[in-house]
Amino acid sequence: MRPLKAIILIGGRQKGTRFRPLSLELPKPLFPVAGFPMIYHHIEACSKVPGLREILLIGNYQPSESIRQFINNTQREFKIQVRYLQEYTGLGTAGGIYHFRDQILAGNPEAFFVLNGDICGDLPLAEMYSFHVERSDGSQMTLLGAEATMQESLNYGCLVENAATHHVVHYVEKPSTFVSTKINCGAYICSPAILRDIAAVRRHHQDENFSGVNGDGSLRSIESISLERDVFPELASLDKLLVFYTEGFWSQIKSPGSTLYANRHYLKLYHKTHPNRLVKNGDGQATIIGDVYIHPTAEVHPSATIGPNVSIAQGVTVSPGVRIRESIILDNATLQDHCCILYSIVGWNSVVGPWSRVEGTPCDPNPNKPFAKLQSMPLFNNAGKLNPSITILGSDVQVPGEVIVLNSIVLPHKDLAGSFRNQIIL
Ligand code: GTP
Repeated sequence: MRPLKAIILIGGRQKGTRFRPLSLELPKPLFPVAGFPMIYHHIEACSKVPGLREILLIGNYQPSESIRQFINNTQREFKIQVRYLQEYTGLGTAGGIYHFRDQILAGNPEAFFVLNGDICGDLPLAEMYSFHVERSDGSQMTLLGAEATMQESLNYGCLVENAATHHVVHYVEKPSTFVSTKINCGAYICSPAILRDIAAVRRHHQDENFSGVNGDGSLRSIESISLERDVFPELASLDKLLVFYTEGFWSQIKSPGSTLYANRHYLKLYHKTHPNRLVKNGDGQATIIGDVYIHPTAEVHPSATIGPNVSIAQGVTVSPGVRIRESIILDNATLQDHCCILYSIVGWNSVVGPWSRVEGTPCDPNPNKPFAKLQSMPLFNNAGKLNPSITILGSDVQVPGEVIVLNSIVLPHKDLAGSFRNQIIL
């Protein structure tokens, strides 16, 4: 049987800007959600697909120690080959795939998945593959689709489908007017022949001496090809794009706020996939409310109250009387006596002083919605004021005792002198 492969598009330094200041310390795809790096969840999902032998991470980050370590750990844990292929510059969501086509086609794979690194969810990869095998004639690509509201749909790739055959007949990326409530989730399974279609788009760019514009308005070169803007409309016109729908949990992770949303839903998913990762209440231990992940090396005082929807990373110290809910606490942070952390991300090695309160505002309107397409709110509103947001403490931030930090973003290495509200502290 021919093997399957997967590609995870991880972008690069120029991407993930909405994820600052957290992406200043670590490539965004490695940011931990529910205790594990964002793309660890992708690799785990891929490892469950029978016959999937190799995962290629394509991006343009410099190969750092954190990337190397991540690859070593996941290879060891999932017994699957994981390799990082570095683009010389951002080549777009299809450009990198084309550039590394030889590595993708090595070993003659039957098909390959392509997953955006910044999505999260209960990805039904095996089901997608079965659907693809059943429906595709070997020259096609199947995308994972979902249903959005009319309003939400404008932020995504929208598609119109032939409901009888599941062919996508029309595709528009982030349309300016309403097209359809059916959206692209950023997960695909491709027959190798798709590389020929990408090559055709590339030739077309060259013939036209193409100089297009990216979604963010910046110019892009001939080498840069977008799956969503250049390839899908073409595939739709050739009947080479199919859609498979999911109703499971799915979202994008664009902003730190959407990380808390993803955290909550991955923790919920652990009931089904990894109940052992969720902490249970027990004698002489902290009071746990709802879903909580605590790394085994974290020290949590029995008088603390934690949850729901909290992830605590390695080396964290949680002192007596601390209260944490709806938050992510990163490696080696120290939460001193009786501090309170709500809707916040506390950065690596940061310290929150005794009796202080670090609090954000949840930015997802319906926390119980099992399936939501959460858009990141712009940082500032039309009046130039900071929109309500979760609070983020970058790495090595010192919050003194008895202060309040509310709806604020604190850049790394700050030693706060007092309370702050609705501010970006540079
Ligand atoms: P934004 O709203 O601008 O973020 O657009 P989007 O949601 O359509 O996402 P985009 O197409 O920019 O990125 C989708 C995924 O592809 C993300 O995981 C990115 O990190 C990744 N990606 C985007 N551009 C590149 C690129 O040039 N090279 C690689 N390897 N990955 C990329």
